[in-house]
Amino acid sequence: MVVMSFFDLVSSRHSVRAFKEQKMSDDTIKKILTVATKASSAGNLQSYQIFIIAKKEDKKRLAAAAHAQNFIENASVVFVFCADPAASAREYGKRGEDLYCIQDATIACSYAQLAAHSLGFSSVWIGSFDEDQVARILNLPSGLRAVAMLVVGMPAEKPEITPRRPLSEIIRTL
Ligand SMILES: Cc1cc2nc3c(=O)[nH]c(=O)nc-3n(C[C@H](O)[C@H](O)[C@H](O)COP(=O)(O)O)c2cc1C
Repeated sequence: MVVMSFFDLVSSRHSVRAFKEQKMSDDTIKKILTVATKASSAGNLQSYQIFIIAKKEDKKRLAAAAHAQNFIENASVVFVFCADPAASAREYGKRGEDLYCIQDATIACSYAQLAAHSLGFSSVWIGSFDEDQVARILNLPSGLRAVAMLVVGMPAEKPEITPRRPLSEIIRTL
């Protein structure tokens, strides 16, 4: 394993959408998801649940729910980050229900994506999916919302080096 500085780690991560069929060990899954839990969350509630999907048949169903993004089925594992609006609402009312739980889940997903990269895996974040269909596949308890799928595996392609908008377009000062 190559040890990279944080800045190199972040800069060298790019989405991959073709994977070699390879299993991910339980130990690696645990490492990645432990990092996910280190992310900030509103009131430290961690108002999310993370589903681990590794069976081919289930990944196929997720690929179909993601509008036929069929590469998903070849990934080692799909982590589905689900927001728990009720958990956040108990503490923070409507802002917790509408916003904080989504932020908690997505920040955790970001951490998991970087952790996977640091362990030599590639990934792509999937946001385009039919939420109801995913809820049925995961048998989600009512109220939980699938907000992001993190598709992780060993790369079978060189990633496209995606550009970024210059800071001057993004930063505004008062
Ligand atoms: C909220 C969100 C939704 C995304 N949805 C998809 C998706 O459904 N399918 C896909 O192939 N990539 C998806 N992506 C990945 C982006 O296309 C990708 O991150 C972006 O083009 C930048 O490329 P990079 O990840 O290589 O830096 C999504 C990313 C985010 C953050």
